[in-house]
Amino acid sequence: MELSHVIRHRRSIRKYKSEKISKELLEEIINLAVWAPSPFNSQPWNFVIISREYILNRRENIGELLYERSKPLLEQIFGKKDMSPFIVKKFLGDFGGAPYLIGVLRSNRIGEVDLEFQRAAIYAVVQNILLIAYDKGLGTCWIGVDEKMREVVQEILGITKEMGELLALISIGIPDQRVKDLERKPFNLWYLE
Ligand SMILES: Cc1cc2nc3c(=O)[nH]c(=O)nc-3n(C[C@H](O)[C@H](O)[C@H](O)COP(=O)(O)O)c2cc1C
Repeated sequence: MELSHVIRHRRSIRKYKSEKISKELLEEIINLAVWAPSPFNSQPWNFVIISREYILNRRENIGELLYERSKPLLEQIFGKKDMSPFIVKKFLGDFGGAPYLIGVLRSNRIGEVDLEFQRAAIYAVVQNILLIAYDKGLGTCWIGVDEKMREVVQEILGITKEMGELLALISIGIPDQRVKDLERKPFNLWYLE
């Protein structure tokens, strides 16, 4: 696919087919995604691949916790009558049936590089994963893990602090929905010449 097509048409997918995807494919995507830029070429990332079965076997529902976190903002932005909060709630209930989640972690081993810059590099990898997956016919959704939720989410998922700081979860699988293209909001663009 053309890069411009991939960038333009990737959408967050919140419903997946139950079909598995291969670990080889997941690793291929990650191995390509790590060609992202990073501060001082520190490459401060680690990954954890989490299967649907593993999540279903956890005692607590992390999706529900993640939804509770975003609910007030979702309702404020979209209003209670809009479908968006409902769609996100339904999705986070079981991650849309996705066969896998990819957890993207900031490695603890790079102490001296500015934390904000390290996190920026992780987010660049996340975007790469979303785009590469789309190019391979897969669907994804970026699920943010914020500071408030991080400890509890890591604990529930059994991701130890030694494994790193969990910055994002990405649901990934074969899409079972078509998502309409979104509008882009106007933005300011200045030239300083
Ligand atoms: C940092 C970040 C956190 C996000 N967290 C969630 C989330 O918790 N649940 C969710 O359903 N979507 C989440 N999204 C996806 C956004 O809702 C989505 O990207 C946005 O609505 C635009 O839609 P698009 O991805 O189809 O362009 C997140 C996206 C980003 C960048």
